[in-house]
Amino acid sequence: MSDKVIIFDTTLRDGEQSPGASMTKDEKVRIARQLERLKVDVIEAGFAASSEGDFQAISAVAAAIKDSIVCSLARANDKDITRAADALKQAKAKRIHAFLATSPLHMAVKLRMSPEEVLEQAKRSIRFARNLAEDIEFSAEDGYRSEMDFLCRVVEGVINEGATTINIPDTVGYATPELYGEFIKTLRTRVPNSDKAVWSVHCHNDLGMAVANSLAGVKIGGARQIECTINGLGERAGNTALEEIVMSLRTRKDYFNLVCDIDATQIVPASKLVSHITGFVVQPNKAVVGANAFAHASGIHQDGILKNRETYEIMRAEDVGWSANKIVLGKLSGRNAFKQRLHELGITVEAEADLNEAFASFKALADQKAEIFDEDIIAIMSSAGTAESNDYYHFVSLSQHSETGERPKSRVTFSMGDKEVSSESEGNGPVDASLNAIEAVAKSGAEQLLYSVNAITSGTQSQGEVTVRLTKGGRIVNGVGVDPDIIAASAKAYLAALNKLHDPSLVKMNAQMTP
Ligand code: KIV
Ligand code: ZN
Repeated sequence: MSDKVIIFDTTLRDGEQSPGASMTKDEKVRIARQLERLKVDVIEAGFAASSEGDFQAISAVAAAIKDSIVCSLARANDKDITRAADALKQAKAKRIHAFLATSPLHMAVKLRMSPEEVLEQAKRSIRFARNLAEDIEFSAEDGYRSEMDFLCRVVEGVINEGATTINIPDTVGYATPELYGEFIKTLRTRVPNSDKAVWSVHCHNDLGMAVANSLAGVKIGGARQIECTINGLGERAGNTALEEIVMSLRTRKDYFNLVCDIDATQIVPASKLVSHITGFVVQPNKAVVGANAFAHASGIHQDGILKNRETYEIMRAEDVGWSANKIVLGKLSGRNAFKQRLHELGITVEAEADLNEAFASFKALADQKAEIFDEDIIAIMSSAGTAESNDYYHFVSLSQHSETGERPKSRVTFSMGDKEVSSESEGNGPVDASLNAIEAVAKSGAEQLLYSVNAITSGTQSQGEVTVRLTKGGRIVNGVGVDPDIIAASAKAYLAALNKLHDPSLVKMNAQMTP
């Protein structure tokens, strides 16, 4: 018999703490639905006390999700815990996740509390949380850098108060696999009531060891929950990549002898959706979900693969949801063929109006681009319904002129609130001219931190996916735009980023940066 590992996804909370990755309510719901299709056990939807916007987003996820437990993070105090419980009211199954730092450095510098005060507050908060939910997780923030005897007392105390999951984060990504595994094992051995809770690991990737540390936490330490994110999104160098954990447990079942309930064929669609929404492009050589993960460039490898794929392949591309880059639909395809393809891709569209909108986008794309690939359909569906009713800026049209030896000019028409404006400008290149034209009217004063273009499929016929990262007043936002014309995609991305700067619901406080 193999033990089950609980997969706790925190893309919508820890992942959202990546610079610029803040997500709107609708974006969180779309990702949460995909996480449910992926069959993750727990979806951490946000940090309810961080903002009104995040509270609303968690409530919407709680109402939409039926099969996974929905969780909210909370600092270990009554106010945050009450806020988390309120946000989760509509959840079919809910979890409150309270955290408090336990390392000497965090207690002294961040919390300015003595160890005894921290111990009492941790216990009191779990006692309080137990009145509001049955399923309570306690995280000892910076747990891995905590002093063992003290951490044992905290963990014993919170389990006595009713914590059902104990998470020991490597908050700063300092651990190494063997040491982290042994740390968890020692804790489980020394805490007298350790068998009354599920042990969980949560590792950051600062030294590139988050996945290895998490796997050691289950293999050596005996933890049975792994906290992770799609594409390893997360603070600084990121969190543990869900796709790497799941495929390691599966591919090396001979070694781990552990199972999880994930439907791996939903991994690539989840990766693409998260990348598209957040604007964090997946590096081509990223394990499992990178564009090259299953591409065999060298002649020797190709020859081997043709004779027997196991010569160089330990996983099959189709098992993680890669579909062959084939032309699936064209200009003459009807609504039924489109709906059927969505069904084959595992994409469900509930409202008829959403299907109509997506079909109209598909038709518009098919007019511009003869061949439509699965990736194009996924991009259409990732953007379907994204034009949120409270968006202030909307792209309308663009024309530009560039000629060798002349400064390019661009004219962009877009709406701001209920008025339509056209603006013209020059720039170093056509993209620069278009963004200058928008900025000349929008006058956001934001600074550009990043501009990147990614081709959704291969070849110059591909749609371009552009990410623009802006910063203003200490906030960082990403905007994403998709279009076969990369100048238009750039203008759309810039307007999307301006919409995020304009949206007060996206001003959130960072969980770990607050006492
Ligand atoms: O990294 C960390 O310590 C966290 C906790 C809040 C769980 O994200
Ligand atoms: Zn974290």
